Amino acid sequence: MRGWRITDRQARSLAQNETIVTRIYAFANQKGGVGKTTTAVNLGAYLAELGRRVLLVDADPQANASSSLGVDPADLPLSLYDALIRRRPLAATIRSTPLPGLALVPSAPALAGAEVEMVSMLAREFLLRRALETINGQYDHVLIDCPPSLGLLTVNALTSASDGVIVPIQCEYLALEGLGRLWQTIQLVRESLNPQLFISGMVLTMFDSRTNLAEQVVSEVQSHFPDQAFRTVIPRNVRLSEAPSYGQTIRTYAPNSAGAQAYRALAQEFLAREAAEGEAVATSETGRIGA
Ligand SMILES: Nc1ncnc2c1ncn2[C@@H]1O[C@H](COP(=O)(O)OP(=O)(O)O)[C@@H](O)[C@H]1O
Ligand SMILES: [Mg+2]
Repeated sequence: MRGWRITDRQARSLAQNETIVTRIYAFANQKGGVGKTTTAVNLGAYLAELGRRVLLVDADPQANASSSLGVDPADLPLSLYDALIRRRPLAATIRSTPLPGLALVPSAPALAGAEVEMVSMLAREFLLRRALETINGQYDHVLIDCPPSLGLLTVNALTSASDGVIVPIQCEYLALEGLGRLWQTIQLVRESLNPQLFISGMVLTMFDSRTNLAEQVVSEVQSHFPDQAFRTVIPRNVRLSEAPSYGQTIRTYAPNSAGAQAYRALAQEFLAREAAEGEAVATSETGRIGA
């Protein structure tokens, strides 16, 4: 059999990662109220502002991400539930949002029963991954907002997360408490379902500059996890907590607030980090191909 040859141009294109590949991230932490939804929604809003095509997947039956974008989960023809359990095409569940470039797969109350229904399904840990494969290349970023548990919905998100897990961490007492279980789950998923899985980012949220404790949490996390922890720290900001009740992201609700500035900066840091990683991969690929 004749071996195949790769042209220089193809090698460059491969090395520069020119094919559009959808990057998929899961926002997970089994603690509730740490800023998973706020981070997924507002980071998504600013990635869209920066020209990226973003799909937000609301995998939490509480549907906070959906309502944060003005979608009423009680009044939906199709939701993530239909894509996972009824095997409807994922594309049929996608809705546009008021923000150009930001699309949503909404959650619905029915999703609460999905974990139980999934138990008897074949390849139950891969349902979301298979659904996302059908839209590969149509978005630059898929951000999956996980529920505050480590059940099958979160496992489906982790199995899909080709570009890693983003862990929001609230700057408070015992911030890292309980992360051990998330670590264990990630380890288990890596061993059996998604060998590429890793924690690609940690976002420090609800930082209150008036307390020494918050400073301590930031420096502890940044020194223990220098590669994961984003430099951008999200302050506690009342505008961020008000925006969802108006069905808006911070980008339209209070674009000049401290919360908005922080999420804009986070989006920039996020893209800069991806670009730096892309270059590192390109360098090693070129080396490999040339070797
Ligand atoms: N930086 C922040 N400043 C003030 N309130 C915040 C901030 N981040 C999140 N919140 C509020 O805290 C609550 C929990 O945040 P949320 O993102 O829903 O957490 P999770 O998705 O992890 O449960 C929500 O009411 C949200 O509006
Ligand atoms: Mg949430």
